[in-house]
Amino acid sequence: MKNFTNYKEYDKKENLKIGSKVVHGAVGHDPFTGSVSFPIFQTATFRFRALEDSFGYDYTRLQNPTVEELERTLAMLENGTHALALSSGMAAVMCAFSLLKRGDHLISSDDIYGGTYEIAKTELKERGVETSFVDLSDFELFKESIKENTKMIFIESPTNPTMKVADIAEICKIAKEKGIIVVVDNTLLTPYYQKPLNLGADIVIHSGTKYLEGHNDTMAGFVITNKEEYFTPMRAFLTYQGACLAPLNAWLTLRGIKTLEVRMQRHNENALKVAEFLQNHPKVTKVYYTGLKDHKDYATTMKQSTGFGGLLSFEVDTKETALKVLEKVNMIIFAGSLGGVESLICYPVVVTHHEVPEEERLKLGINDRLLRLSVGIEDAEDIINDLAQALE
Ligand SMILES: Cc1ncc(COP(=O)(O)O)c(C=O)c1O
Repeated sequence: MKNFTNYKEYDKKENLKIGSKVVHGAVGHDPFTGSVSFPIFQTATFRFRALEDSFGYDYTRLQNPTVEELERTLAMLENGTHALALSSGMAAVMCAFSLLKRGDHLISSDDIYGGTYEIAKTELKERGVETSFVDLSDFELFKESIKENTKMIFIESPTNPTMKVADIAEICKIAKEKGIIVVVDNTLLTPYYQKPLNLGADIVIHSGTKYLEGHNDTMAGFVITNKEEYFTPMRAFLTYQGACLAPLNAWLTLRGIKTLEVRMQRHNENALKVAEFLQNHPKVTKVYYTGLKDHKDYATTMKQSTGFGGLLSFEVDTKETALKVLEKVNMIIFAGSLGGVESLICYPVVVTHHEVPEEERLKLGINDRLLRLSVGIEDAEDIINDLAQALE
């Protein structure tokens, strides 16, 4: 019988390219049994050998080998030193916001995910944290919004649905001078196309439900950092809020991540083709996709990201056309969420941004003619044909 030591002792695969890292994970196979697939430790608790002599694990809410393998893998991919796996992306947002205290000021991208907006407007407000929603693609506006008590900048880049891009490195330079924490929601591009910690951010968060897991079948969230002083209180938040990820969901996410490179490349390739088709359609009045050379933030994107991802939005001529598209799509599914292998189309006004008051929504360009499309990995021709018949 081998001496069963614990998984924490195994090294990361730092020398590999990202396409190989995603396939093999941090430890990857099971060094104790030879299993090529990292095992699911479907257990709530762990046996002690004797008093004060454990196998390195006590209780799944505190640590679980499958969840830890996923955390190590995310830390490796984002180039962080610490990562937390949580039950959803919202839990990850809450975990980062747990660093904010009464009297603090938060600067947030204006066009953020509706759920994050709602937390800032309700939960943070009740906690005594004031939030300024700012167009962070406008650097001057960003600088003007900094206050004495600004504690955190929360960047979604690109934003969703109007795909605005903030210059992460420039924002981080100013934040560093002033001791402000920079958090980046990297859900849309994933570490495959953008690594915010390399650009100077302190914390990266993800809805793992999207591209990382990639199959529209599992919820997950992540927080990654290279700063122990932020990691320790966030780990405590996870433990005491009980926002831990279930071992099976961790395993499904590890499996999803194995194909991250090929999926992201295909999402990107398909989205570009679909964006170009939409741009030339007579009923389409505007296309938001950062991969289009005439996108207002194309240059910033090229500076900090290696790709554009699979999410785009487009505006059609009338509300009636928008509703007809939702009704007429066949292969493309009318559903919320994004980042999975299936193409999903949704209506941000109702599905993702209903929390945002109408006046603010319209200012952001989220009107009743706007549709958001998460371009899947099907054959691009089928996606385009489906849109063409729906737009007829
Ligand atoms: C950019 C972004 N961040 C965070 C979230 C929240 O993630 P979850 O739905 O996994 O809780 C979402 C969800 O749509 C999102 O799009």
